[in-house]
Amino acid sequence: MLRAGIIGCGGITERRHGPVLASLSDHVKIEALADLAQERTELMGGKLGVATEHLYTNWENMLAQEELDLVHICTPHHLHEPQAIAAMKAGAHVFLEKPIATSLEEVDRMIAVAEQTGRKLTVGHNQLFSSVHRVTMEQIRSGVIGEVFLVRSEGFGSSHVVGRGINQQWRTQTKPGGGGALIDNGYHQVYNAIDYTGSPAVRVYARIGRHVHDIQVEDTALVLIEHASGATTSLQVGWSALAGAVGVNEILGTKGQIRFGGGETPVSVWRKDTGKWTQPIVEAEGPDELGFPVVVRHFIDAIENNGEVPVSGAEGRHILATVLAAYESGRSGQSVKVDTYE
Ligand SMILES: NC(=O)c1ccc[n+]([C@@H]2O[C@H](COP(=O)([O-])OP(=O)(O)OC[C@H]3O[C@@H](n4cnc5c(N)ncnc54)[C@H](O)[C@@H]3O)[C@@H](O)[C@H]2O)c1
Repeated sequence: MLRAGIIGCGGITERRHGPVLASLSDHVKIEALADLAQERTELMGGKLGVATEHLYTNWENMLAQEELDLVHICTPHHLHEPQAIAAMKAGAHVFLEKPIATSLEEVDRMIAVAEQTGRKLTVGHNQLFSSVHRVTMEQIRSGVIGEVFLVRSEGFGSSHVVGRGINQQWRTQTKPGGGGALIDNGYHQVYNAIDYTGSPAVRVYARIGRHVHDIQVEDTALVLIEHASGATTSLQVGWSALAGAVGVNEILGTKGQIRFGGGETPVSVWRKDTGKWTQPIVEAEGPDELGFPVVVRHFIDAIENNGEVPVSGAEGRHILATVLAAYESGRSGQSVKVDTYE
């Protein structure tokens, strides 16, 4: 039985990490929780059955006093690196929420500590494990749409906190957020696009700005990604569509097209040879689930069987490098090669 701790008892822990770990009670016992805010540890301790003596307002005390095999880190982005390193040094494997960190130096230090300690490190690219993503990838890999040459990915909302009900002001601040809509939400779109094209990012051009909200970070980011295969991703993300926006996800191939989101049926596939749209069956997920149970289970299997982690530090590093290159392009007005960051 793995003994798990969670650092950060905010929205994502309440919605996903807590319930998913609790559902895996044959493999994991949630032993301890830490959050600066005592009311959050008490709330989550009550929901997850963690006794008061295992609730901490200081995460370093939790790591010192508990014997943990696994730590989930669900905190503001600038805390990912120090908390992951300390958890691995304390002997725990680490499931880190996205983005992997806010700088590549932080990522390199984490990867080095994972190697030194022999602990496993994974990062929550959870959408790669969702039903919609899995069906989309099956379609792409079967060749029915031919070579992917363009990914259109649009993710606009009106604000960073819509409907979540927890104070997340750190997301709008440069240091704890590490950026705004792009590193927070666009990060998912980047790793998805790299999976769809099967090809890493080599160059980006971005327009990044703050137009609507009085915040430190960007509320709008438009990014063009050139992939090694020659494919292009056109990515739009923002917290700046005041009335909300239609979200489009489309993958264009030489022999067809895949579309999902934006009010369409979950996944629609158009083939040039039939001239028709079809809707492959997509297994239903719970609300807001987006691959979480699958990726957490996969990491636990990797720990138990000394297998491959679902997403490696190196994979997280490439996504962050692409995002950071986009920020640099936004500042300079020039396209930026991603490997200048790698
Ligand atoms: N994969 C996804 O779909 C997804 C969705 C939402 C959030 N996230 C990620 O999860 C992480 C947390 O986001 P959230 O939405 O839960 O934010 P949140 O603001 O709801 O929760 C963050 C929690 O961290 C706590 N915290 C802050 N500083 C701390 C410290 N020094 N020690 C201990 N706790 C501290 C806060 O008190 C808060 O309870 C971020 O990395 C975010 O990007 C991922």
